[in-house]
Amino acid sequence: MKKVPTLLIIIGITGDLSQRKLLPAIEQIAVAGELPDDFRVIGVSRKKEVTIDDVLPKDKPFSYLREHSEIFHMDPTEEKDYQKLAAHLSSLEKKFGQPTQRIFYLSVPPQVSQSIIGFLGTSGIAALPQTKLLLEKPFGVDLASAKELVVNIEKYFAADQVYRIDHYLAKETAQNIIVFRENNSLFKKTWNKDFIESIEINASEFIGIEGRKTFYEQTGALRDLVQSHLLQLAALTLMDTPRAGMLHEVPKHRLAALRHLVLPPHQEVGTFAKRGQYLGYAEEVENPGSTVETFVSLTLYSTDPQWVGVPITLTTGKSLSRKNTEIRVRYKKDQGYEANELVLQLQPDDGVQLFIWAKKPGYSHLVSSHSLRFDFKEFYSFFPEAYEQVLFSGLNSDHTLFASSEEVLETWRILDPIQKAWGLSTDDMVFYKPGSEVKDVLALSAKA
Ligand code: BG6
Repeated sequence: MKKVPTLLIIIGITGDLSQRKLLPAIEQIAVAGELPDDFRVIGVSRKKEVTIDDVLPKDKPFSYLREHSEIFHMDPTEEKDYQKLAAHLSSLEKKFGQPTQRIFYLSVPPQVSQSIIGFLGTSGIAALPQTKLLLEKPFGVDLASAKELVVNIEKYFAADQVYRIDHYLAKETAQNIIVFRENNSLFKKTWNKDFIESIEINASEFIGIEGRKTFYEQTGALRDLVQSHLLQLAALTLMDTPRAGMLHEVPKHRLAALRHLVLPPHQEVGTFAKRGQYLGYAEEVENPGSTVETFVSLTLYSTDPQWVGVPITLTTGKSLSRKNTEIRVRYKKDQGYEANELVLQLQPDDGVQLFIWAKKPGYSHLVSSHSLRFDFKEFYSFFPEAYEQVLFSGLNSDHTLFASSEEVLETWRILDPIQKAWGLSTDDMVFYKPGSEVKDVLALSAKA
């Protein structure tokens, strides 16, 4: 693949995501020899004293980035500064001597990103065909704000210039869902309502909010993980798989699956959407009486004839007993015989686990459940981080691992009634001890 000379302009370089995920990912891609020879990071900062040394994480030498990056001082909320930036980018491009792509990476609060997108538009930068926009969530806070955001972006950018990051789509097991479903005839033939009883997608986190007080107070678990990561995992699990060689059609298939997802009809929101908050959260964010949820468990259904009647439960929470991300597919019992369970494990380690029943050795005829397990790390040592894969795809203009604007709007369409109902009353909120198991939080909810 021809590597296109690239300028990566990071707006929000001093932010948590850029330092924890993006910069280490660039360094890794460089080490893997996958960056173009002509590549430069331009970190935008409004503070005059910030240098590249200040923004590079301290845990590794980052020798590639030390040589290939710089800070450009400007105020991204000032329209006039964009002309200065455009002139600087043109001078760098001249040095590269070939058509260069400009990738703008935005990791800033939504209000700020709206105006930056506008300025990229009015300055003429967005109109250049070599400009790409790489966006971090949140993509709105509800259906109406997400629509506004889409309209604002579409005013200046064509759909194929925009890359909306959902790093869960790039996790190895998430990418493996399609391969697993397509290449194992046993599962391919049974991947539907006739064989599958229920699907659970769980993303428990051991960590709390890690100091992101303002962000989390405006977000909560439903917007933070369900709207993006968990609904995308559900889409990958339920969608029609693409024909061989047609991976680029995956976003279209995910969208079709999302369009089929509905909340259980004629039921009160509280019966299918449970929420909780870990004890100590309100003090941590210094907002006594905060009604922001740090735990959600939500059951949906699909109207796709292949999936009618199969409950799909999405559960996530912070400050739980452990980090565990999995897609658990429960098969139906057959004429009273025990059922199998398949687990596609994303974290802590990527793998696949299948529970089967076997005879218990001995004189009796008892059976017991055992697991067959495949762990990627036992076989492969090259295991790029999701962020590396996202960035690699963006560099190479591959949209497969990115969420389209239609997908984002669909996810908000699904969640809007829950957000509305939750805005009216918080009587159903339960408070759980940090370190709880998911089942303990659900038990509290059942009693509430
Ligand atoms: C982010 C959320 O999108 O995903 C965080 O904003 C969350 O709150 C994180 O902790 C989880 O990602 P991962 O890859 O660590 O499971």
